[in-house]
Amino acid sequence: MKLLPFAALGLAAAISAPVALADDPVVIKFSHVVAENTPKGQMANRFKELVAEKTGGAVVVEVYPNSQLFGDDKVLEAMLLGDVQMAAPALSKFSRYTDVLALYDLPFLFQDLDAVDRFQQSEQGQAMLDSISRKGLIGLGYLHNGMKQLSSSKPLRTPEDAAGLKFRIMSSEVLEAQFKAVDAAPLKKPFSEVFTLLQTRAIDGQENTWSNIYSKKFFEVQPYITESNHGLLDYMVVTSKEFWMGLPDEQRAQVNAALREALDFGNQIARDKAIEDKGLIAESGRSEILELTPEQRAQWVEAMKPVWKKFEKEIGADLIDAAYAANTTDNQVASATDGQ
Ligand code: LMR
Repeated sequence: MKLLPFAALGLAAAISAPVALADDPVVIKFSHVVAENTPKGQMANRFKELVAEKTGGAVVVEVYPNSQLFGDDKVLEAMLLGDVQMAAPALSKFSRYTDVLALYDLPFLFQDLDAVDRFQQSEQGQAMLDSISRKGLIGLGYLHNGMKQLSSSKPLRTPEDAAGLKFRIMSSEVLEAQFKAVDAAPLKKPFSEVFTLLQTRAIDGQENTWSNIYSKKFFEVQPYITESNHGLLDYMVVTSKEFWMGLPDEQRAQVNAALREALDFGNQIARDKAIEDKGLIAESGRSEILELTPEQRAQWVEAMKPVWKKFEKEIGADLIDAAYAANTTDNQVASATDGQ
Protein backbone atom coordinates (compact mmCIF):
# COMPACT_ATOMS: atom_id res chain seq x y z
CA MET A 1 0.00 0.00 0.00
CA LYS A 2 1.21 3.49 -0.79
CA LEU A 3 0.54 6.52 1.35
CA LEU A 4 -0.01 9.75 -0.49
CA PRO A 5 2.02 12.64 0.94
CA PHE A 6 -0.14 15.26 2.71
CA ALA A 7 0.92 17.93 0.23
CA ALA A 8 -0.55 15.94 -2.64
CA LEU A 9 -3.87 15.42 -0.90
CA GLY A 10 -4.92 18.99 -0.19
CA LEU A 11 -5.94 20.47 3.14
CA ALA A 12 -9.24 18.63 3.62
CA ALA A 13 -7.63 15.23 3.32
CA ALA A 14 -4.61 16.31 5.30
CA ILE A 15 -6.65 16.95 8.42
CA SER A 16 -8.32 13.55 8.23
CA ALA A 17 -6.36 10.29 8.30
CA PRO A 18 -3.83 9.60 5.49
CA VAL A 19 -5.56 7.94 2.54
CA ALA A 20 -4.23 4.53 1.53
CA LEU A 21 -4.27 3.71 -2.18
CA ALA A 22 -4.20 0.27 -3.73
CA ASP A 23 -0.65 -0.57 -4.84
CA ASP A 24 -0.26 0.42 -8.46
CA PRO A 25 2.55 -1.18 -10.43
CA VAL A 26 5.51 0.94 -11.42
CA VAL A 27 5.19 1.58 -15.16
CA ILE A 28 8.19 1.73 -17.49
CA LYS A 29 7.26 3.20 -20.85
CA PHE A 30 9.86 1.94 -23.33
CA SER A 31 9.80 3.95 -26.52
CA HIS A 32 11.61 3.02 -29.72
CA VAL A 33 11.45 3.76 -33.42
CA VAL A 34 11.98 0.43 -35.14
CA ALA A 35 9.67 -2.45 -36.03
CA GLU A 36 9.04 -5.30 -33.61
CA ASN A 37 10.82 -7.89 -35.79
CA THR A 38 14.22 -6.28 -35.24
CA PRO A 39 16.93 -6.78 -32.60
CA LYS A 40 15.71 -3.77 -30.60
CA GLY A 41 12.03 -4.62 -31.03
CA GLN A 42 12.61 -8.20 -29.86
CA MET A 43 14.86 -7.13 -27.00
CA ALA A 44 12.24 -4.68 -25.72
CA ASN A 45 9.48 -7.29 -25.86
CA ARG A 46 11.65 -9.84 -24.07
CA PHE A 47 12.55 -7.24 -21.44
CA LYS A 48 8.84 -6.67 -20.80
CA GLU A 49 8.28 -10.40 -20.20
CA LEU A 50 11.34 -10.78 -17.97
CA VAL A 51 10.46 -7.76 -15.85
CA ALA A 52 6.95 -9.14 -15.30
CA GLU A 53 8.45 -12.49 -14.24
CA LYS A 54 11.18 -11.13 -12.00
CA THR A 55 9.09 -8.50 -10.23
CA GLY A 56 5.94 -10.61 -10.00
CA GLY A 57 4.04 -7.84 -11.80
CA ALA A 58 5.15 -5.04 -9.47
CA VAL A 59 6.85 -3.37 -12.45
CA VAL A 60 5.12 -3.26 -15.82
CA VAL A 61 6.93 -2.46 -19.06
CA GLU A 62 4.86 -0.89 -21.83
CA VAL A 63 6.65 -1.07 -25.17
CA TYR A 64 5.88 1.57 -27.83
CA PRO A 65 7.54 0.60 -31.16
CA ASN A 66 7.62 2.35 -34.56
CA SER A 67 8.00 5.92 -33.22
CA GLN A 68 4.42 5.59 -31.84
CA LEU A 69 5.22 7.53 -28.71
CA PHE A 70 8.36 9.56 -29.52
CA GLY A 71 10.87 9.87 -32.33
CA ASP A 72 14.53 9.75 -31.35
CA ASP A 73 14.81 13.53 -31.69
CA LYS A 74 12.42 14.01 -28.74
CA VAL A 75 12.74 10.91 -26.63
CA LEU A 76 15.61 11.99 -24.37
CA GLU A 77 13.98 15.31 -23.55
CA ALA A 78 10.76 13.43 -22.82
CA MET A 79 12.71 11.12 -20.53
CA LEU A 80 14.08 14.01 -18.53
CA LEU A 81 10.51 15.27 -18.15
CA GLY A 82 9.35 11.85 -16.92
CA ASP A 83 7.07 11.19 -19.91
CA VAL A 84 8.96 8.02 -20.84
CA GLN A 85 11.28 5.92 -18.68
CA MET A 86 13.41 3.94 -21.12
CA ALA A 87 14.59 4.03 -24.71
CA ALA A 88 17.49 2.74 -26.75
CA PRO A 89 18.43 5.34 -29.36
CA ALA A 90 21.25 4.67 -31.79
CA LEU A 91 24.63 5.82 -30.45
CA SER A 92 24.62 8.36 -33.31
CA LYS A 93 21.78 10.27 -31.65
CA PHE A 94 23.46 11.46 -28.44
CA SER A 95 25.44 14.39 -29.82
CA ARG A 96 23.46 16.93 -27.79
CA TYR A 97 24.44 15.08 -24.63
CA THR A 98 28.07 14.04 -25.19
CA ASP A 99 30.90 14.14 -27.75
CA VAL A 100 32.52 10.79 -27.06
CA LEU A 101 29.78 8.49 -28.37
CA ALA A 102 30.49 9.93 -31.83
CA LEU A 103 33.36 7.44 -31.80
CA TYR A 104 30.96 4.72 -32.86
CA ASP A 105 30.06 6.60 -36.05
CA LEU A 106 33.59 6.74 -37.44
CA PRO A 107 33.55 4.96 -40.80
CA PHE A 108 35.43 1.64 -41.06
CA LEU A 109 36.38 1.68 -37.37
CA PHE A 110 35.22 -1.83 -36.45
CA GLN A 111 35.51 -4.77 -38.78
CA ASP A 112 32.72 -6.80 -37.18
CA LEU A 113 30.54 -7.21 -34.09
CA ASP A 114 33.17 -9.31 -32.31
CA ALA A 115 35.51 -6.31 -32.40
CA VAL A 116 32.66 -4.08 -31.18
CA ASP A 117 32.05 -6.51 -28.28
CA ARG A 118 35.71 -6.52 -27.31
CA PHE A 119 35.78 -2.73 -27.19
CA GLN A 120 32.41 -2.25 -25.46
CA GLN A 121 33.34 -4.74 -22.75
CA SER A 122 36.68 -3.03 -22.09
CA GLU A 123 37.07 -0.47 -19.30
CA GLN A 124 37.00 2.39 -21.82
CA GLY A 125 33.93 1.04 -23.57
CA GLN A 126 32.07 0.64 -20.27
CA ALA A 127 33.10 4.11 -19.09
CA MET A 128 31.38 5.60 -22.15
CA LEU A 129 28.03 4.46 -20.74
CA ASP A 130 28.53 7.15 -18.08
CA SER A 131 29.15 9.90 -20.61
CA ILE A 132 25.59 11.24 -20.39
CA SER A 133 25.25 11.11 -16.61
CA ARG A 134 25.94 14.84 -16.16
CA LYS A 135 22.76 15.44 -18.14
CA GLY A 136 20.61 13.37 -15.80
CA LEU A 137 20.61 10.23 -17.93
CA ILE A 138 22.05 6.79 -17.22
CA GLY A 139 23.42 4.44 -19.88
CA LEU A 140 22.36 0.97 -18.76
CA GLY A 141 24.00 -1.05 -21.51
CA TYR A 142 24.79 -1.46 -25.18
CA LEU A 143 22.70 -3.31 -27.70
CA HIS A 144 23.80 -4.28 -31.20
CA ASN A 145 21.93 -3.85 -34.39
CA GLY A 146 24.81 -4.40 -36.77
CA MET A 147 26.91 -3.10 -39.61
CA LYS A 148 25.42 -0.52 -41.96
CA GLN A 149 25.01 -0.94 -45.70
CA LEU A 150 24.50 1.73 -48.36
CA SER A 151 21.26 1.65 -50.31
CA SER A 152 20.62 3.85 -53.30
CA SER A 153 18.68 4.49 -56.48
CA LYS A 154 21.98 4.03 -58.36
CA PRO A 155 24.61 1.28 -58.08
CA LEU A 156 27.36 2.41 -55.70
CA ARG A 157 30.67 0.66 -56.29
CA THR A 158 33.20 3.42 -55.82
CA PRO A 159 33.03 6.66 -53.81
CA GLU A 160 32.63 8.62 -57.07
CA ASP A 161 29.29 6.88 -57.63
CA ALA A 162 27.92 8.61 -54.53
CA ALA A 163 28.94 12.12 -55.59
CA GLY A 164 26.00 14.51 -55.83
CA LEU A 165 23.48 12.03 -54.35
CA LYS A 166 21.28 12.91 -51.36
CA PHE A 167 21.53 10.52 -48.41
CA ARG A 168 19.41 10.49 -45.29
CA ILE A 169 21.51 10.30 -42.14
CA MET A 170 20.86 10.12 -38.41
CA SER A 171 21.55 13.33 -36.47
CA SER A 172 25.32 12.95 -36.28
CA GLU A 173 28.05 15.30 -37.41
CA VAL A 174 30.38 12.41 -38.06
CA LEU A 175 27.88 10.88 -40.46
CA GLU A 176 27.45 14.26 -42.10
CA ALA A 177 31.23 14.49 -42.62
CA GLN A 178 31.34 10.90 -43.85
CA PHE A 179 28.98 11.62 -46.76
CA LYS A 180 30.56 14.98 -47.49
CA ALA A 181 33.90 13.15 -47.80
CA VAL A 182 32.51 11.39 -50.89
CA ASP A 183 30.92 14.61 -52.22
CA ALA A 184 27.40 13.44 -51.43
CA ALA A 185 24.70 15.57 -49.77
CA PRO A 186 23.69 14.29 -46.31
CA LEU A 187 20.30 15.20 -44.81
CA LYS A 188 19.45 14.65 -41.13
CA LYS A 189 15.95 13.17 -41.01
CA PRO A 190 13.97 11.11 -38.50
CA PHE A 191 13.80 7.36 -39.06
CA SER A 192 10.02 7.49 -39.40
CA GLU A 193 10.34 9.61 -42.58
CA VAL A 194 12.93 7.54 -44.43
CA PHE A 195 10.61 5.25 -46.39
CA THR A 196 8.52 8.11 -47.78
CA LEU A 197 11.59 10.19 -48.60
CA LEU A 198 12.99 7.28 -50.58
CA GLN A 199 9.69 6.39 -52.21
CA THR A 200 9.05 9.94 -53.39
CA ARG A 201 12.68 10.27 -54.53
CA ALA A 202 13.15 13.28 -52.28
CA ILE A 203 16.42 11.54 -51.39
CA ASP A 204 18.52 9.07 -53.36
CA GLY A 205 19.76 6.80 -50.64
CA GLN A 206 20.41 6.02 -47.02
CA GLU A 207 22.63 3.88 -44.79
CA ASN A 208 21.25 1.26 -42.45
CA THR A 209 21.47 -2.32 -41.23
CA TRP A 210 19.96 -5.32 -42.98
CA SER A 211 17.20 -5.62 -40.36
CA ASN A 212 16.14 -1.98 -40.67
CA ILE A 213 16.28 -2.07 -44.48
CA TYR A 214 14.14 -5.20 -44.43
CA SER A 215 11.63 -4.43 -41.67
CA LYS A 216 10.94 -0.89 -42.91
CA LYS A 217 10.76 -2.04 -46.55
CA PHE A 218 13.49 0.32 -47.76
CA PHE A 219 14.59 -2.45 -50.13
CA GLU A 220 11.28 -2.15 -51.98
CA VAL A 221 12.09 1.42 -52.98
CA GLN A 222 15.87 1.15 -53.36
CA PRO A 223 17.01 -0.88 -56.36
CA TYR A 224 20.63 -1.24 -55.14
CA ILE A 225 22.22 -2.10 -51.82
CA THR A 226 26.00 -2.06 -51.54
CA GLU A 227 27.24 -4.48 -48.91
CA SER A 228 29.71 -1.95 -47.55
CA ASN A 229 29.71 -2.79 -43.82
CA HIS A 230 31.20 0.70 -43.54
CA GLY A 231 29.85 1.66 -40.15
CA LEU A 232 28.13 0.48 -37.02
CA LEU A 233 24.57 0.94 -35.81
CA ASP A 234 24.44 0.14 -32.12
CA TYR A 235 22.27 1.40 -29.30
CA MET A 236 22.53 2.52 -25.73
CA VAL A 237 19.68 1.62 -23.41
CA VAL A 238 18.99 4.73 -21.34
CA THR A 239 16.88 5.80 -18.43
CA SER A 240 16.73 8.93 -16.31
CA LYS A 241 18.67 9.12 -13.09
CA GLU A 242 15.58 10.37 -11.32
CA PHE A 243 13.49 7.38 -12.31
CA TRP A 244 16.22 4.77 -11.83
CA MET A 245 17.41 5.97 -8.43
CA GLY A 246 13.77 6.37 -7.35
CA LEU A 247 13.17 2.62 -7.66
CA PRO A 248 13.53 0.63 -4.45
CA ASP A 249 16.90 -1.20 -4.44
CA GLU A 250 15.36 -4.63 -4.84
CA GLN A 251 13.21 -3.62 -7.79
CA ARG A 252 16.10 -1.84 -9.46
CA ALA A 253 18.17 -5.02 -9.15
CA GLN A 254 15.33 -7.12 -10.61
CA VAL A 255 14.80 -4.76 -13.54
CA ASN A 256 18.53 -4.61 -14.13
CA ALA A 257 18.79 -8.41 -14.16
CA ALA A 258 15.91 -8.56 -16.65
CA LEU A 259 17.69 -6.06 -18.84
CA ARG A 260 20.99 -8.04 -18.83
CA GLU A 261 19.12 -11.13 -20.02
CA ALA A 262 17.13 -9.20 -22.62
CA LEU A 263 20.32 -7.60 -23.97
CA ASP A 264 22.02 -10.98 -24.40
CA PHE A 265 18.92 -12.17 -26.22
CA GLY A 266 18.77 -9.04 -28.43
CA ASN A 267 22.47 -9.25 -29.27
CA GLN A 268 22.03 -12.79 -30.54
CA ILE A 269 19.01 -11.70 -32.60
CA ALA A 270 21.17 -8.94 -34.11
CA ARG A 271 23.67 -11.49 -35.37
CA ASP A 272 20.97 -13.83 -36.70
CA LYS A 273 18.88 -11.13 -38.34
CA ALA A 274 21.76 -9.60 -40.27
CA ILE A 275 22.06 -12.92 -42.12
CA GLU A 276 18.36 -13.75 -42.29
CA ASP A 277 17.12 -10.33 -43.45
CA LYS A 278 19.87 -9.97 -46.04
CA GLY A 279 18.74 -13.35 -47.39
CA LEU A 280 15.09 -12.25 -47.49
CA ILE A 281 16.01 -9.07 -49.36
CA ALA A 282 18.08 -11.06 -51.87
CA GLU A 283 15.23 -13.54 -52.35
CA SER A 284 12.70 -10.76 -52.91
CA GLY A 285 14.43 -9.71 -56.11
CA ARG A 286 13.42 -6.10 -55.41
CA SER A 287 16.91 -4.90 -54.74
CA GLU A 288 20.25 -5.98 -56.15
CA ILE A 289 22.93 -6.60 -53.54
CA LEU A 290 26.34 -5.38 -54.72
CA GLU A 291 29.53 -6.79 -53.26
CA LEU A 292 32.65 -4.65 -53.27
CA THR A 293 35.94 -5.97 -54.57
CA PRO A 294 38.85 -5.46 -52.13
CA GLU A 295 40.09 -2.63 -54.38
CA GLN A 296 36.71 -0.89 -54.39
CA ARG A 297 36.43 -1.23 -50.63
CA ALA A 298 39.89 0.25 -50.22
CA GLN A 299 38.73 3.30 -52.18
CA TRP A 300 35.82 3.89 -49.79
CA VAL A 301 38.15 3.51 -46.79
CA GLU A 302 40.61 5.94 -48.31
CA ALA A 303 37.90 8.51 -49.12
CA MET A 304 36.30 8.38 -45.69
CA LYS A 305 39.40 8.06 -43.51
CA PRO A 306 39.94 11.87 -43.17
CA VAL A 307 36.77 11.92 -41.05
CA TRP A 308 38.72 10.31 -38.19
CA LYS A 309 41.23 13.18 -38.09
CA LYS A 310 38.44 15.75 -38.19
CA PHE A 311 36.85 14.40 -34.99
CA GLU A 312 40.00 13.24 -33.22
CA LYS A 313 40.05 16.13 -30.74
CA GLU A 314 36.38 15.88 -29.81
CA ILE A 315 36.38 12.12 -29.36
CA GLY A 316 39.95 11.63 -28.13
CA ALA A 317 42.82 10.02 -30.04
CA ASP A 318 43.36 7.43 -27.28
CA LEU A 319 39.79 6.29 -27.47
CA ILE A 320 39.94 5.96 -31.25
CA ASP A 321 43.17 3.95 -30.95
CA ALA A 322 41.67 1.67 -28.32
CA ALA A 323 38.56 1.03 -30.40
CA TYR A 324 40.58 0.32 -33.53
CA ALA A 325 42.87 -2.02 -31.59
CA ALA A 326 39.82 -4.13 -30.70
CA ASN A 327 39.86 -5.42 -34.29
CA THR A 328 42.85 -7.51 -33.28
CA THR A 329 42.44 -10.24 -30.69
CA ASP A 330 45.14 -11.04 -28.13
CA ASN A 331 45.66 -14.31 -30.01
CA GLN A 332 46.25 -12.46 -33.24
CA VAL A 333 48.70 -10.12 -31.53
CA ALA A 334 50.49 -13.11 -30.02
CA SER A 335 50.73 -14.92 -33.33
CA ALA A 336 51.76 -11.75 -35.16
CA THR A 337 54.66 -11.31 -32.82
CA ASP A 338 55.49 -15.03 -32.53
CA GLY A 339 58.87 -15.92 -33.92
CA GLN A 340 60.04 -12.32 -34.20
C1 LMR B 1 17.94 5.17 -37.74
O1 LMR B 1 17.46 6.26 -37.39
O2 LMR B 1 18.24 4.88 -38.90
C2 LMR B 1 18.16 4.13 -36.68
O3 LMR B 1 18.70 4.74 -35.54
C3 LMR B 1 16.89 3.46 -36.31
C4 LMR B 1 17.12 2.47 -35.21
O4 LMR B 1 16.78 2.76 -34.07
O5 LMR B 1 17.66 1.40 -35.52
